[in-house]
Amino acid sequence: MKLRDLSGVSLRGKYVLLRDDFNVQILDGKITEGFRIEQSQPTINFLRDAGARIAIVSHLGRPKGMRDMKYSLRPIAEYMKLPLVEDCLNKSFMANMKDGDVVLLENVRFYPGEEANDVEFAKKLADGFDLFVNDAFAVSHRAHASTVGVTAYLPSYAGMLLASEIDNITRVMENPKHPVLSIVAGSKVSTKIGVLRALIRLSDTVIVGGALGTTFNYALGAPVGNSLYEPDQKDNALAIMEYAHENNCRFLLPLDKGVGPVFEPDAPRTDKDIGDILPDDVIIDGGPKTAERDVAEIGQAATVIWNGTVGMAEWMPTWSHGSFAIARAIAENTRAGKLHSIVGGGDTVAALDACGVRNDITYVSTGGGAFLEFIEGKDLPGIAVLMEK
Ligand code: 3PG
Repeated sequence: MKLRDLSGVSLRGKYVLLRDDFNVQILDGKITEGFRIEQSQPTINFLRDAGARIAIVSHLGRPKGMRDMKYSLRPIAEYMKLPLVEDCLNKSFMANMKDGDVVLLENVRFYPGEEANDVEFAKKLADGFDLFVNDAFAVSHRAHASTVGVTAYLPSYAGMLLASEIDNITRVMENPKHPVLSIVAGSKVSTKIGVLRALIRLSDTVIVGGALGTTFNYALGAPVGNSLYEPDQKDNALAIMEYAHENNCRFLLPLDKGVGPVFEPDAPRTDKDIGDILPDDVIIDGGPKTAERDVAEIGQAATVIWNGTVGMAEWMPTWSHGSFAIARAIAENTRAGKLHSIVGGGDTVAALDACGVRNDITYVSTGGGAFLEFIEGKDLPGIAVLMEK
């Protein structure tokens, strides 16, 4: 199966509806992390240079189908220096467009029809355009009107970022250089069961960390204090460890943790071995022994796949030790030519950025949920509709 791309497609003077994922972090009206916007630029430039008339459609956050200006794309329009069309269904802007012009449409999730993949809404969104390009890998796991619905009404193609994501992740999943090490962290086991199984099949070693790792420690009877974990996932955690054993995959849990008296950025830190954690302790980061072990494992690997920070990496510097140790070790080994590294997930990419090492990683995905579902081997609906028949 081949992805329909833009090669050979006539674009001059054509009205193109371009789906990008500009769901980026915005604080006080300012973009704090523009990685997805940066990565979307090559397709925008390509379409512009080819003389297309481009309207970019994106979501931001989860405004629940209402026009909640907290989720306006205006800061993004300003950042990209693009005119903002305040209603994604108002097509009057088209009359004034010249070849190569680009506009940004206001948040498509201001309409309930977007997430419901409503036929009438998709038809209205597609109206007036000549073709549709999806470059929003990060939202392609959602069957929404702007990822799937519009493809019923417009000739539809994959953009360059989407194609590159598929290509880079598939290559690692199909033919990785061994030993393969996967590091999976974050908050929930319940959302990562499928991906953990897929990574166990692929990897020689899997490290679990963060609150996810805490749930595994708990499943084996360790004290976890007053921390974030999922007691109801005990059986799933045990089954995953058994699955790793059956697949000859080493499955490594946190050895120690950074704990505080409360879950707050300025809480004082103490490092404790897993067995020494007291009922009032709140786990906020991986401990130094775990970090040292993780760095040593990264040093032995030929391929590393990383998703999820092992602590509150954004609470720097007290609670970022574990995640930053991983980020730096992956970067260093990749830079030295010893490692093929692939990293995905918003918080994880933010940790790379905070360490200034994003450009040292072999491939950084713009996807969070989409990255995980793709690794799991699921069919992503926004991609399935772009396959040549
Ligand atoms: C993401 O940030 O993972 C994507 O933009 C999808 O967002 P969603 O989880 O709100 O659908």
